[in-house]
Amino acid sequence: MRCIGVMTSGGDAPGMNACIRAVVRTAAYHGLRVMGIRRGFQGLIEGEIVELRPRDVGGIIQRGGTILQTARSKEFMTEEGQRKALRRLNQHGIEGLVVIGGDGSMRGALALHQRGFPVVGVPASIDNDIWGTNMSIGVDTALNTIIDAIDRLRDTASSIGRAFLVETMGRDCGYLALIAGVIGGAEMVLIPERETRLEEVARAVMDAYERGKTHALIVIAEGSPYRTTEVAKFLESHPIGFDVRITILGHIQRGGSPTAFDRLLATRMGVKAVEALLGGERGVMTALQGRDIVTIPLEEVVQRRREANLAYYDMVLMLAR
Ligand code: F6P
Repeated sequence: MRCIGVMTSGGDAPGMNACIRAVVRTAAYHGLRVMGIRRGFQGLIEGEIVELRPRDVGGIIQRGGTILQTARSKEFMTEEGQRKALRRLNQHGIEGLVVIGGDGSMRGALALHQRGFPVVGVPASIDNDIWGTNMSIGVDTALNTIIDAIDRLRDTASSIGRAFLVETMGRDCGYLALIAGVIGGAEMVLIPERETRLEEVARAVMDAYERGKTHALIVIAEGSPYRTTEVAKFLESHPIGFDVRITILGHIQRGGSPTAFDRLLATRMGVKAVEALLGGERGVMTALQGRDIVTIPLEEVVQRRREANLAYYDMVLMLAR
């Protein structure tokens, strides 16, 4: 193998740049050329490919977003799109590919592998919804952003005596909301993986008021069965003691400089991805298991769903005294 490609795909996540840097420099160390593919699978189809040398990735380890940009490509999901992508890889002499992205991107990586192209995936998504790895790149930074927001909201909430509903990202996965609930001191969390009745939410807020708390906090995952506005309406029509306010954190959670944890995770995974390609591994994803970065088959990754650890849900309730 003399030349590999690297791309970021799907939703961006803090730490993607640190991973690109590690891929480029590990490859250079082993005497490989690296082609950077812009805008994920869509950019690959359209031939947006530039060489990346070690100096090109200087000064990016601390930057949020991705210097290669990213996209969600519908065209790549088609057979024709995948054929075009393979033609582009061949045209540019790329013999192996590192795909950094979320679960959709791991499916894309698997599709190329199934067409015989050497691919290694690297999990990066703030949602932490990818099976097989304890953490994906970007999760820790997003959690730090969320907890910073919650701390600020608690200042105002407790000063004026309000209940805050804070909505986190996580389309199908409640991980961010669950952990933010535990470390932010929430009364309750609402997540897609666990049914909670609105009456229970009202009860939790009312209890907090009756126990003399100066504020109440409910963390709601974007993918929870109730919209945040719906929860607010319900609470406002019940005697919960507090006035209610909503904060939707939105895409703020996706930006910002990666934390130390994310920089290290991204770096270790980038190094591992290149070493896996060089070592002849194909169709695998890097994963954090225990203290180690290992590789696991992409086929397994896409077939399974990461389960929410509902012990955190109970922990939130237990600690909201
Ligand atoms: O998958 C990451 C994520 O940030 C989800 O939490 C969120 O639902 C989605 O992406 C938002 O996607 P977009 O940026 O395309 O609106």
